[in-house]
Amino acid sequence: MNDYQTNFDRFTLTTPLYYVNDVPHIGSAYTTIVADVIARFQRLQGRSVLLITGTDEHGLKIQRTAAETGLATQVHCDRIVDSFKSLWDKLNIKYDRFSRTTANNHQAIVNEFFQRVWDKGDIYLARQQGWYCVSCEEFKEERELTTDKCCSIHVNKPVEWRDEENYFFRLSKYQQYLEELYSKRPNFIQPTSRRNEILNFVNRGLQDFSISRVNVDWGFPLPVDPKHTIYVWFDALLGYVTALLEPGEEPTLANALSKWWPIDLHLIGKDILRFHAVYWPAMLASAELTVPKTVFGHGFLTKDGLKMGKSLGNTLDPFSLVDRYGADAVRYYFIKEIELGKDGDFNETRFINTLNADLANDLGNLLNRTLGMLRKYCQGNGPQLSQADFDREHPLKKIGIELGDRVSQNYMSFKLSQACEDIFALIRASNKYIDDSAPWSLFKQGKQAEVEQILYAVLESVRLTAYLLSPVIPNLSNSIYQQLGFTGDFNRIDEGDEKQLEFALHSQWGKLAANQNLGKASPIFAKLELPE
Ligand code: MSP
Repeated sequence: MNDYQTNFDRFTLTTPLYYVNDVPHIGSAYTTIVADVIARFQRLQGRSVLLITGTDEHGLKIQRTAAETGLATQVHCDRIVDSFKSLWDKLNIKYDRFSRTTANNHQAIVNEFFQRVWDKGDIYLARQQGWYCVSCEEFKEERELTTDKCCSIHVNKPVEWRDEENYFFRLSKYQQYLEELYSKRPNFIQPTSRRNEILNFVNRGLQDFSISRVNVDWGFPLPVDPKHTIYVWFDALLGYVTALLEPGEEPTLANALSKWWPIDLHLIGKDILRFHAVYWPAMLASAELTVPKTVFGHGFLTKDGLKMGKSLGNTLDPFSLVDRYGADAVRYYFIKEIELGKDGDFNETRFINTLNADLANDLGNLLNRTLGMLRKYCQGNGPQLSQADFDREHPLKKIGIELGDRVSQNYMSFKLSQACEDIFALIRASNKYIDDSAPWSLFKQGKQAEVEQILYAVLESVRLTAYLLSPVIPNLSNSIYQQLGFTGDFNRIDEGDEKQLEFALHSQWGKLAANQNLGKASPIFAKLELPE
């Protein structure tokens, strides 16, 4: 068991709170899909889960974008928020909280937290001089800039010089605290490559950072000096805390932290790791609050080998991708084809080939032809067998009996692509098994019992696959489960269907009952064509 999880009844996880400077792009969709898959797996295991997503709406970047559109800033934010919510619906993301930093209850949480840090003596006024990247909302060191004075991520947006009085947070005071945290909790930052980046950064010596702005109106006034607004990152990280409040509950830290704290997992992209793995735990330590269990920094998506972004004009519209191919297809591609933690490429030909090979052919065709044979050779009745009729060395049972544990460990340690690989090993073995054992000729030879054995073993392997893949492709899993005569809805695990789909029973090979009442067969995934 990965030591990031110590509470076995509940699991709290977050995506970043996305900037509302624009409608969501595929990068935001990627993080949110991954978070949803992890959340669904945790629910499948019977835990209470709180999946938090939301939007980061304050700061200069948003203030300027809204000004360019000519809309009132809040109206602009509301519009973009709608587009995020509609994308999450399209992608079948089951989030529990949508945290907006402009929500009514957020300011009280920010103020109370600020007061704690202030009372600790960790905030002071000083002069801030330096280069500021508005797109990152972050000061950059001279050596981090390109020759055109841009940061490495926003290569066409030059940084701006700042020379102003700001309030600072004493990050440097927490140097030793953080070093100890990283060494005592080696899994706090994952994956290891990202952890090493942070260790190097912290080893160079931490500098205090400014947490107020004088030239930005779009933010909360600083409680101790309202000429300043609170720095967008200080406010945004606390959006995770505000999200923990029950609807309508009085916004106090005590209420927010009473049930779902500490957060088990912050899932973020690698560019915002410092905020989550350095600034955030130091802020929490200052306020004397427990730090989260794990921060996982995933890689960037590239398209045809180039980093995806507006500056290169090679972004992918997630809305049209889902409209064209469906939610499960998009979810499956990103989970299976990208090793979580590494950069990953999107290429439409590869996208189509992967889906056709795995979902249409290997899985979909296997189910379809096996059900077809059952109709032909067994009058459509489920075989009169159960798993006890197969010895341990049976080629499919052998893989199937240890698959649940193996896949479970993969999901728990963020090896999502490996989970898909392992599950598909069973499907590929099933295809080979059916081809090698040729039930069509056994039927002609009158070997009915052998035919039934083969069909049972294959259908049961397809069922187990559908179950274990349900966090990734819940709609396809539902369709397979219905065809195999099971009840329960993978989209309603936390709404009463968890009993019918209990992990301990369904993750074992052999759940298919003797004489199972099968549902109506229909193809689960139509082959995709490459667009012209
Ligand atoms: N508002 C901050 C987060 C505050 S969390 C308290 C922010 N927002 S963002 O909208 O700019 O980015 C959100 C996430 O999208 C980041 O984790 C970032 O890494 C991710 N991505 C942005 N472009 C991406 C790709 N091309 N590929 C994958 N993820 C990328 O930062």
